Amino acid sequence: MIEGLRRLEYRGYDSAGIALVDDGTIVSDKRAGKLANLEKAIAESPLPPVTTGIGHTRWATHGPPTDRNAHPHVGRARRVALVHNGIIENFAELRGRLESAGVEMASDTDTEVAAHLLEEQLETGVDLTVAMQNVCRGLNGAFTLVAVDSQDPDRVVAARRNSPLVVGIGEGENFLGSDVAAFIEHTREAMELDQDQVVTITREGVSVSGFDGTPAEGRRYHVDWDLSAAEKDGHDWFMRKEIFEQPRAVADSLLGRRGTDGLLQLDEMRLSDQDLRDVDKIIIIAAGTSFYAGMVAKYAIEHWCRIPVEVELASEFRYRDPILTSDTLVVAISQSGETADTLQAIRHAREQRSKVLSICNTNGSTIPRESDGVIYTHAGPEIGVASTKGFLTQLVACYLLALYLAQVKGTRFGDEIAQVMDQLDQMPAHVQSVLDKSEEVYALARDHVGSRSVLFLGRHAGYPVALEGALKLKEIAYLHAEGFAAGELKHGPIALVEEGLPILCVVPPRGRDQLHDKMLSGIQEVRARGACTLCLAEEGDTTIEPYADVLFTLPQVPVLLQPLVAVVPLQLFACELATQLGHDVDQPRNLAKSVTVE
Ligand code: AGP
Repeated sequence: MIEGLRRLEYRGYDSAGIALVDDGTIVSDKRAGKLANLEKAIAESPLPPVTTGIGHTRWATHGPPTDRNAHPHVGRARRVALVHNGIIENFAELRGRLESAGVEMASDTDTEVAAHLLEEQLETGVDLTVAMQNVCRGLNGAFTLVAVDSQDPDRVVAARRNSPLVVGIGEGENFLGSDVAAFIEHTREAMELDQDQVVTITREGVSVSGFDGTPAEGRRYHVDWDLSAAEKDGHDWFMRKEIFEQPRAVADSLLGRRGTDGLLQLDEMRLSDQDLRDVDKIIIIAAGTSFYAGMVAKYAIEHWCRIPVEVELASEFRYRDPILTSDTLVVAISQSGETADTLQAIRHAREQRSKVLSICNTNGSTIPRESDGVIYTHAGPEIGVASTKGFLTQLVACYLLALYLAQVKGTRFGDEIAQVMDQLDQMPAHVQSVLDKSEEVYALARDHVGSRSVLFLGRHAGYPVALEGALKLKEIAYLHAEGFAAGELKHGPIALVEEGLPILCVVPPRGRDQLHDKMLSGIQEVRARGACTLCLAEEGDTTIEPYADVLFTLPQVPVLLQPLVAVVPLQLFACELATQLGHDVDQPRNLAKSVTVE
């Protein structure tokens, strides 16, 4: 169980705990902080050997990350132990009712109410499965619940609504986890569940039902990656390993996209050509890094397909009352496929009868399951909280979508599409050539260990790259970092520039003459005010030399594809700087990999 939690710790690391069923009682230990604290406690006071148990690592929502708020939570009689992801929105009302009935709460969490409610149900004589169904019908919000009953040691029961849960099918053993990584060491056979389902596992079997008790079937699938993909493979951090996996990830995401007739084919598209021809507006919704991939997609789609594209933060989307019709294509980008903000946004779009296409890296996750079509990226599992290969493969999927739309709508000739595909096929080698110069970037990062603030400038497709570079630095180095569209500087942000301030500048390829020259002017303006300019520019671009305090050269690639190579040094820079500062790069403070709460 500890190994399973270790593989899931990237999803939350405010506290960790386990509860075991031992001879009619619940035995439990739980500790604030990282899993290592729990391991140490167990090493000092070992728990009994058993075959049924549950565990949890927490990203705190209700109540601070303390021992008492750590999961599992138990019922009043300690008959039930329960762990929970998500938020039970009506917990205050439920808690009030329980307290009036004399229940004393042992934590500040919303979770604990579910443990008491389950125990109440068990006292009426039903089994844990029925108890779970009955309790879930009375809960609002998003939740994955997993529970054990000390009086029924062979059974573990779980439920899900809007929060991830997968079943691992073994031989003489079965598993539950928020992600297959939890049990990949034991089995690669998995089962996904629908919303509002309860699953019961025993040593021998798995059974699924709706919250109303109606029997249901989960969908079985084989996981196409193994344990090695979930290990660091000699790197100090998952993030660094994942940065170096990018050439492979980009190549894998491009694989099999061209048919024998030379036409693009997107297997999991599921939207008909006619549906796509009717599209008159695209709205891309996403969060964080995925949002920046969406910004790049806007440049590509508008240029190649001449369809207007809006890019919207998923968390804001529903609240502005967006204008959606059945001819609007909503594209949801999410590495995890579980981001609650994005999920709620696509639900809103579908209620308004818009088509939803998702770009996702996680097979069987909720967002693709609730979309009309999906383009899967093939990055493999991304464990570092800071997204890297997830981002590059999202960019690839965005380019593929743009080219596919151009093919269907006839806005680009076949040979033009083939030419871009050929250029994309060369990108893994280009990304590799940037990685081959990682030592140059590391040296630069080491030179800036004392910096309090770093700015990032870009234009056009380089602007989202600047934003992504700044996000990486904020996330893992905890530095003030901001990305700007270079043309906006003079409208305010240039006031931030002072002697020695490092500014990372993403210089567009010379293919866009005007843009390139305008960027140069922006760089001169900040340099004239004392900034230290760290410039990323394509090989052979000598015009930048007089204005660059440091020049890192990028391979020559087309303007729209430049984000694929330009972001890589920024990832390396953040990773190395955070390492030098002594931070936990894979599990930065206050964050979690999948943000399954709104
Ligand atoms: C990226 O480094 C971040 N951890 C975060 O911004 C992330 O991209 C965002 O939460 C969206 O996640 P998703 O792609 O899984 O939906």
